[in-house]
Amino acid sequence: MAEFSIDVEAVTERDPASLPAELGFGRHFTDRMFRQTYDAERGWHAAKIGPYSPIVLDPAAQLFHNGQMIFDGTKAYRRADGHVNLFRTDRNCERFNNSAARMCMPPVPAEQHLAAIEKLVALEQRWVPSAPNTALYIRPVMIATERDLAVKAPREYLHFIILSPVAPYFAAGFSSVSVYVSEEYVRAVRGGTGAAKTPGNYAGSVAATELAIAKGYQQVLWLDAVERRYVDEVGAMNIAFVYGNEALKTPALSGAILPGVTRASILQLAADIGLTVSEERIDFAQVVADIASGRVTEVFGMGTGAVIAPVGRLGYQGRDIVVNGGEPGPIARRLFDELTGIQYGRLPDRHGWTRRIEVKK
Ligand SMILES: Cc1ncc(COP(=O)(O)O)c(C=O)c1O
Repeated sequence: MAEFSIDVEAVTERDPASLPAELGFGRHFTDRMFRQTYDAERGWHAAKIGPYSPIVLDPAAQLFHNGQMIFDGTKAYRRADGHVNLFRTDRNCERFNNSAARMCMPPVPAEQHLAAIEKLVALEQRWVPSAPNTALYIRPVMIATERDLAVKAPREYLHFIILSPVAPYFAAGFSSVSVYVSEEYVRAVRGGTGAAKTPGNYAGSVAATELAIAKGYQQVLWLDAVERRYVDEVGAMNIAFVYGNEALKTPALSGAILPGVTRASILQLAADIGLTVSEERIDFAQVVADIASGRVTEVFGMGTGAVIAPVGRLGYQGRDIVVNGGEPGPIARRLFDELTGIQYGRLPDRHGWTRRIEVKK
């Protein structure tokens, strides 16, 4: 590994027992954060872990004007033996750099990024919650800090990592969500930024989510931006369609879809339990027909925050399409148990996806 050292500052520690029993998602943060800065002359430098604290920026910093900014999201899981697992965090570091490349931002060497995450989580291990299905959410971010209103590749950046003890994204746990098939708005277009985790994609999605909520649904199902015909994603999750005990299909990565770590893991686990797995262009009209004929037996979203979110009801052109009687199905349940079993160390990690952080006792 290239030389990389992280200064660790003294921090006033709070007691994680002060957290409410209902953690919610992304509302509480730990005592420390990681940060390092970049400029063209020195590259990444001044890496340090210090107090979680405000960031002071010039009002003309490029992120405020051009939105040059990326982030990612992964989790640390409390094992029954008290140690802590990271799950495929190397993939998040890789995706962070793919997002950086798309936004003309500098990469963070993946092994340094992973080392920073591991060190921060090790220092904050007290904050990894232990209630069922809770975790410590890890949020790495990079912002363009250079003072310049021109639309061009910036030369100065801040990279930081914060941690949040969380419950699953959907408070009700493993129960079905309802989705509104958006015909008014699109999330991302091929050739755009949909495959990068950059805030503009999410800012632009809020109006559609608000519309979905106003119409009585929880999330948005996104169709492709060009033909408004093929399925892209659901909310901030990838989507899967189950055909009985036979097959699992998910939209192929088109450039408009975020390549999810959960998606890649579920595709592997589905193949492991004998399903025929395919990544293809999925015509929404065909999905509607296949739900009506009973060929499609389950639909679910998949992502780090929600893990697996079974879809019970789809609102499309003024009517409701109900999947599996509105209830979570057996394949979603089984894949959820398999995935979380590996993440929390309850099942053997046969694919080598976890990294254990030793907890000082
Ligand atoms: C738009 C979008 N799709 C899919 C996902 C799922 O990706 P992952 O499984 O890596 O969390 C996310 C979350 O990161 C997302 O923001």
